Amino acid sequence: MDSLTIFLPDPDATLTLGRYLGETARPGEIITLAGSLGVGKTTLTQAIGQGLQVPQSYYITSPTFSLLHEYPGRLPLYHLDLYRLNEETEIEEAGLLEYLYGAGLSVIEWPDRLGSLMPDERLHIELKRLDETVRLAEITAHGGAWRKKIAALRVACSGC
Ligand SMILES: Nc1ncnc2c1ncn2[C@@H]1O[C@H](COP(=O)(O)OP(=O)(O)OP(=O)(O)O)[C@@H](O)[C@H]1O
Ligand SMILES: [Mg+2]
Repeated sequence: MDSLTIFLPDPDATLTLGRYLGETARPGEIITLAGSLGVGKTTLTQAIGQGLQVPQSYYITSPTFSLLHEYPGRLPLYHLDLYRLNEETEIEEAGLLEYLYGAGLSVIEWPDRLGSLMPDERLHIELKRLDETVRLAEITAHGGAWRKKIAALRVACSGC
């Protein structure tokens, strides 16, 4: 299967999902996070950072004045927030493509801003707000490696 929907009844469930994605991350992976303002994209990224063993002394927040923050961990975490990106060309000008195809795990908020630069291989997660604390994660695999991983995620997150 190429897609999976996970019910996240509270922030702890989001934490579990994110940690799993961080713990199982491999070099060069890309995760794109969509969903409206305040739905939980950065919260999920913080949990991915925990799973990647980013030291607690780093507080993962959305990059506001730069488009990218890099954190050390088992693999480097590249956290991109493209909300303020106006043009695709800015991505190339800022050298962001080198990160996307680098050795770390890239997590991208507002990935629609990538336009034609959207990577072919990625795990796409769309978060939807059902209630104050309840979210749905609609997860879609793009590319063969992610299709395999989504099958593992289905098993691992049966209790998420
Ligand atoms: N189940 C849940 N999963 C994730 N976050 C939740 C959940 N329930 C409540 N929240 C709260 O929702 C807020 C999400 O904020 P966050 O900054 O992660 O959103 P965002 O999608 O990154 O927003 P933005 O588009 O502004 O970057 C946090 O305050 C978090 O505690
Ligand atoms: Mg955010």
